Amino acid sequence: MEDRIVSSENVNQEEISFETSLRPQYLAEYIGQDKVKQNLGIFIEAARQREEALDHVLLYGPPGLGKTTLAMVIANELGTNIKTTSGPAIERPGDLATILTALEPGDVLFIDEIHRLSKAVEEILYPAMEDYCLDIVIGQGPTARSVRLDLPPFTLIGATTRAGMLSAPLRDRFGVIDHLEFYTEEQLEDIVTRTAKILSTEINEAGALEIARRSRGTPRIANRLLKRVRDFAQVKGDGLVDYPIAKEALTLLRVDPRGLDTIDQKLLQTIIHSFRGGPVGLDTIAASIGEERETIEDMHEPYLLQIGFLQRTPRGRLATGRAYEHLGIEQEKGVE
Ligand code: ADE
Repeated sequence: MEDRIVSSENVNQEEISFETSLRPQYLAEYIGQDKVKQNLGIFIEAARQREEALDHVLLYGPPGLGKTTLAMVIANELGTNIKTTSGPAIERPGDLATILTALEPGDVLFIDEIHRLSKAVEEILYPAMEDYCLDIVIGQGPTARSVRLDLPPFTLIGATTRAGMLSAPLRDRFGVIDHLEFYTEEQLEDIVTRTAKILSTEINEAGALEIARRSRGTPRIANRLLKRVRDFAQVKGDGLVDYPIAKEALTLLRVDPRGLDTIDQKLLQTIIHSFRGGPVGLDTIAASIGEERETIEDMHEPYLLQIGFLQRTPRGRLATGRAYEHLGIEQEKGVE
């Protein structure tokens, strides 16, 4: 049962996928998120010096910005094992109890999508985080009694796309709370160049920059686009990822010059054409374009807000002048 909900990273080499090997292993190799790295570096060093478990860490921010990678880097820097699982995978309190009792002193337990833990499971986590112990109830009815089990000191690393979705008691139990930000073009260019090297792909600066520009501030997207452009370079060109190949490939992949994909474009066009630019509620937008509200909130909105194409107002979402300009649509007079 444990295999279903938790995976251990200290597996043999064959089981480590190629994808994993693209990930940086240490803080020094991790590009971007400088403030977060700087602070974590100090907390990790202090925990190591004291020979204690690192305090619990909550990482939040849009998907693809490196929360899982950072959790693995932290475990590596601490020299401990990391067990990874996710909120939806832990269905019952017993599942979490199984995971917790299998931890070794100093281990990192990584829970992705931690906002999706049920209330009953969350309640097991409180004493585990606070006092490294597990309160379990044995028996039922009038004879039921509570037993306290000691756990080894461990570090919980939780990841979530939105910290606001976490209950306050859970959020308050994290000693370190870090927000991951979108990456700059320069940082993404460095990441693309690093990944190309690992993939033995020839790339020049202009090629890396064009992929970086179209990656919506997100390393996961940058690395995915690099792999697709590499395919084009291999089949249509001489293998070199340069500006013309990157531009042609990304245009064919329908990734526009600012990195907007078809859903981002449809979202903005719907607000503009069907709702006169907004404001319009998120549920209405979701129904109009046939996407889940959560998908829009997690995957599309944060970047559109960041680049100023979308505004969030109390009455709903609004397409900005910049969005009209980018899409080549004339803004009606008197319409914001
Ligand atoms: N690959 C994906 N994300 C990365 C990062 N932040 N630094 C280095 N390589 C990466």
